[in-house]
Amino acid sequence: MTAQRIDGNALSQQIRAQVAADTAALKAQGLTPGLAVVLVGDNPASQVYVRNKVKACQDAELHSVLEKYEATMSEADLLARVEALNNDPQIHGILVQLPLPAHIDAQKVIEAISPAKDVDGFHIASAGALMTGMPGFWPCTPYGCMKMIESIGYDLRGKHAVVIGRSNIVGKPMALMLLQQNATVTICHSATPDLKAHTLQADVIVAAVGKRNVLTADMVKPGAVVLDVGMNRNEEGKLCGDVDFDGVSQVASFITPVPGGVGPMTITMLLVNTLESAKRALSAEH
Ligand code: GUN
Repeated sequence: MTAQRIDGNALSQQIRAQVAADTAALKAQGLTPGLAVVLVGDNPASQVYVRNKVKACQDAELHSVLEKYEATMSEADLLARVEALNNDPQIHGILVQLPLPAHIDAQKVIEAISPAKDVDGFHIASAGALMTGMPGFWPCTPYGCMKMIESIGYDLRGKHAVVIGRSNIVGKPMALMLLQQNATVTICHSATPDLKAHTLQADVIVAAVGKRNVLTADMVKPGAVVLDVGMNRNEEGKLCGDVDFDGVSQVASFITPVPGGVGPMTITMLLVNTLESAKRALSAEH
């Protein structure tokens, strides 16, 4: 079997076109969705990420502001900026890019963001909403994975999903989203003694570890759907995921490539969340 690729660029384009259309419709009602992106310090990867986020807003014609601060900014000053954005009616989404400098308590900053504007879905209130099935914001990367599964018309009910990785921003929320769609979910992690014993049982595998070749062909049941959240570099400096793409492609039914898979979906879902926040703000007015 040669797996079909799930093309994250193509799916992103489709969803972003819909976001642009919905944004135009909201503007016609007098409301422009707005995202504030806050970057503290000069982490080179973060600079690329925030540039891409702002560019995506511009392309879909959302309002966006990029606030850049020196790495020496105090925690108190950052908390004051977040509070000002919480109270800014032009801003519907607030994203404080991580990592933050070591002298700033990142969790404290995240908890200072109004849950109504937490388009990253990192606030404890957002995590609680996801856990209990209440309205909130879902973290963008696992949310993007769910859209990719939906895009192939795959019904998760009664299927066995194995998530490799237990981070707060991918593994744990991913498991909850799959559970919400009635999958039976296993979370594997660095202390799992026999990862292969679990993955061989899986109809769906999400690899979100940050290590190359965590998943190889011998670990995959024929016909499984494989999503690769990893972003690593190989010896030649080439971008690659957590999955041995060439090997696993011979066994799986669907697979996401790296690059061009889950990556572009993360920013797309940030736009979706920002638009959704603006829609909620509008309906709260009426
Ligand atoms: N750093 C790396 N990825 C992310 C993300 O999705 N959101 C934020 N705020 N920081 C990040």
